[in-house]
Amino acid sequence: MRTKQLAPPPAGSDLRPINGTGDPGVIELLRFFRNPVRLVAQRREAFGDITYINAFGQKFAVPLTADGAESVAANRQKALAAEPAWGFLIGPFFRRGILLMDFEEHRHHRLILQHAFNNKHLRGYLDDMQPMLRDGVRGLPVGENILILDRFKELTLDLALEIFLGMDLPRPEADRINKAFIDCVNAGMSLVRRNIPGTKWARGLAGRAVLEEFFRAHLPAKRATETPDLFSVLCRARSEEGHTFTDEDVVNHMIFVLMAAHDTSTITLTTMAYYLALHPEWQEKARAQSRALPRDITYDNLAEFTVLDAVMKESLRLNSPVPGLARRALEDTEIDGHFVPKGTYVSAIGMVNHHNPALWTDPERFDPDRFSPERAEDKSHRYAWMPFGGGVHKCIGLYFAQMEIKTIMHNLLLEYEWSVPDGYTWKLDNTTLPVPKDRLPVTLRAI
Ligand code: HEM
Repeated sequence: MRTKQLAPPPAGSDLRPINGTGDPGVIELLRFFRNPVRLVAQRREAFGDITYINAFGQKFAVPLTADGAESVAANRQKALAAEPAWGFLIGPFFRRGILLMDFEEHRHHRLILQHAFNNKHLRGYLDDMQPMLRDGVRGLPVGENILILDRFKELTLDLALEIFLGMDLPRPEADRINKAFIDCVNAGMSLVRRNIPGTKWARGLAGRAVLEEFFRAHLPAKRATETPDLFSVLCRARSEEGHTFTDEDVVNHMIFVLMAAHDTSTITLTTMAYYLALHPEWQEKARAQSRALPRDITYDNLAEFTVLDAVMKESLRLNSPVPGLARRALEDTEIDGHFVPKGTYVSAIGMVNHHNPALWTDPERFDPDRFSPERAEDKSHRYAWMPFGGGVHKCIGLYFAQMEIKTIMHNLLLEYEWSVPDGYTWKLDNTTLPVPKDRLPVTLRAI
């Protein structure tokens, strides 16, 4: 493997350079898409604690240690910013979302947004989501070849419409909004990054226009009448300092939050379904715990799902829905003693740590017990397990996500058993967020 420096460190500094192969972006990305875990292992062996890869015409510095991920997420020198990096990747589709803000402005918006995810609102969302999730799970088709990814996508979309929007949209309208979201999400990984008709990029821009028009049209009604959904909550959300959102803020945050919530939860559910199908003994354990809990759970019951909790954590470790935290250096800085010149893109990739044999025993094995208090492998480093990120941009929806995922899984376990054929192994499509290429066909049996 050839070695090229990202940039020489300044004369006289004891910083070391960041090395990589210098191969063209298309080749690097194809390697990443094919097998990201192998790529990371090879780079660690060749270049040590940090490397860089070319992607989308830019150089991305990628720390290969948990310390490196921490220094990106914690950003103690305030030399890294999220907007210039996420803005480059998804800005045209998700502009002015909270992840595309930095420093004081980010803090201002986050303090208002947090209000929508406080304990009181979470309890309300859980009460509202249960009947629809229970009916949705009960309505799943049984038999062979049920594409469970698609089913979870429908469930999480219906949930988003009800809990986030508080709307009972006709199916064609719900499908139109869903398609606009999917087009925006897929556009971010587009290799062609210009508005050329027929490309993912162009579809993303059209999707953004649909979403803006949709939220603007419904905003006056939401401002006028208070309802328990997120849209209405955001219209009234107020930080302790008394700040509120403008109409434009509400539209931008709704578009971003719905995007952030939807595929991430779907992928986590699909990953859990996959590993529970491969490991029926864990499925049975989780079912036994669900049977010991009420069908309609309360917020306080959530902590009692210890088996599902471990399975969820292990699934998030093995397949993190958000591959990495993206940042850009606003000035010359350093990560782990390596020189990062101003303008460099930086990505702390979760799987780098999640599959690192120095942090986890036998990392490729599905082993939820590794999260038990006795073993607590996730505590080997603050950033050994980082599917929700860290630092000021840490996922604001993390408790919401766990609540939604556990509620769906609880209902699924009580209604069905599911399996995959002997010897089945999924193949992931990493060109977007990581999803199984075949959408995970399972055999679903009512019990
Ligand atoms: C299992 C599901 C989820 C995963 C794995 C996940 C992962 C993440 C990660 C890694 C980040 C940080 C990105 C960065 O720092 O560059 C993030 C941020 C965020 N997430 Fe999640 N997320 C999930 C579900 C949700 C849900 C359900 C919501 C909303 C209801 C949500 C809303 C957000 C928001 C608003 C941010 C940006 C926070 C900020 O910039 O201050 N996420 N998420």
